[in-house]
Amino acid sequence: MPTVEIDGRRIAVEDGTTVIRAAERLGIEVPHYCWHPGLSIAGNCRMCLVEIEKMPKLQIACNTRVTDGMVVHTTSEKTKTAQKAVLEFLLINHPIDCPVCDQAGECKLQEYYMDYDRQRSRVPLPAKVRKRKAKPIGPLVILDQERCVLCSRCVRFLDEVTHTSELAFYQRGDHVELDLAPGKRLDNPYSANVVDICPVGALTNRDFRFRARVWYLERSESVCGACANGCNMEIYHREGTIYRFQPRENDAVNQYWMCDAGRMSYRALQGEGRLLQPLVRGAEEFAPATWESALGAVAARLREGGVGIVVSAQAPNEEVYLLRRIGAAVSARLAGISWSPPGAFHDDFLVKADKNPNTQGLGLQGLAPDGAVDQLLAAADLRTLVLHRADLATWQGAGAALERVPYLVVLDTDLRETAEYANVVLPIGTYAESDGTFTNHAGRVQRFRPAVKPPGAARPGWEALGALLAALGERIRFDGAEAVFAALAAECPPFDGLGYDALGSQGRPAAGPR
Ligand code: SF4
Ligand code: SF4
Ligand code: FES
Repeated sequence: MPTVEIDGRRIAVEDGTTVIRAAERLGIEVPHYCWHPGLSIAGNCRMCLVEIEKMPKLQIACNTRVTDGMVVHTTSEKTKTAQKAVLEFLLINHPIDCPVCDQAGECKLQEYYMDYDRQRSRVPLPAKVRKRKAKPIGPLVILDQERCVLCSRCVRFLDEVTHTSELAFYQRGDHVELDLAPGKRLDNPYSANVVDICPVGALTNRDFRFRARVWYLERSESVCGACANGCNMEIYHREGTIYRFQPRENDAVNQYWMCDAGRMSYRALQGEGRLLQPLVRGAEEFAPATWESALGAVAARLREGGVGIVVSAQAPNEEVYLLRRIGAAVSARLAGISWSPPGAFHDDFLVKADKNPNTQGLGLQGLAPDGAVDQLLAAADLRTLVLHRADLATWQGAGAALERVPYLVVLDTDLRETAEYANVVLPIGTYAESDGTFTNHAGRVQRFRPAVKPPGAARPGWEALGALLAALGERIRFDGAEAVFAALAAECPPFDGLGYDALGSQGRPAAGPR
């Protein structure tokens, strides 16, 4: 393993490691535009120039491999002069858009100008080369050609990751511009990733732009719940509103990317139909109720026996566990269900046909995802049915069967068709409103964290089910989703040895059924 010295600090790295990677390992940031760890090396922006002893010229850190005994300086006078010169060059024709640019706050031109440049422009404004502004190039992406620093990240993403090649460079010299290839639109299932990797405000997201300044937004680590892949992501939110999802790096799951459908699924989490309080049916209509009275009524009914419980693969591991506990307490029959729209889009990259985040988790707890829901509904002794995140009326056209159920309890986030048949509706939170875990298609258990609070009187699912367990007279009390997961791990072999700390931000594989 070669040992390199960077800014006076030594580190041994694997053969073939680049200077930019070695510096990163030492916590030293080498400024860069074109280099991205998920793409091939282009080496075209020159922002990463560093001084290397015994080399006559400055070298680009992104494409120079470490050799044993190499001595690198990332803050020497020569390096600083080069950084200033590169920034001046990149800014020659850059528009003065910062006050109105939606990239402000996460723009590498702004940041590096402040960190490495800070000189006045020598180019008078009228001399700048003008290019096309605000050009929609696809359903999610808008292009400002003047702001582009020609780093080619977007071009490489579309060539190397999606293999769709919608974007390329045209013209020559300072008239070079990024544009759509003839006859193409940027309309592939992963198109918005180019916005994330564009280091400047040349590519912005049509859905997000001008809706919030990023410095006002908070971020929470989460996992996409829109399919079984479980792409790692961050939820950007402010004052109870979610503004965007962005992918979070996880080499074992999604690398640096997420699909457009998953990215846009934040909207469905805060739709118009959210349930805001428990509802109990009177003679005809629903009447709002307190949690205490609604849970009291449900617990009294469950104690009478003849209970069936259906839990869908939309439910996190913690909720599945609590429903199993409730089922055991009242000797209920349990069935799992993992429903996806017929013909749902999938590919051989990230997107799975299974649109549920926890089908594997359901199975690992012994509930077959294609469980015997029909038999359970048809059972002659069924007196009370509990549907947990399971819209059977829509999914299976089960309205007639639900009509015959003597007493129906629905736990869900939104008022859906199934609720029409319910006696009691309990409002629970989405995964963006709770702690919890999903087990993805490959058996990887991954944590999500609360970004926003459930609306109105809705409660996180684990909390609502824990309260129902208590109303049934069970002595156990859970003070958080973590405690529920700990109880699951203690009892269910595939989760043995796992806990929230052990899962960390990248998740861990479950042991699989034994
Ligand atoms: S649009 Fe952005 S990512 Fe694409 S080449 Fe220009 S600066 Fe780079
Ligand atoms: S591939 Fe699946 S998990 Fe990943 S972002 Fe898309 S919908 Fe979400
Ligand atoms: S990051 Fe090295 S040349 Fe662009």
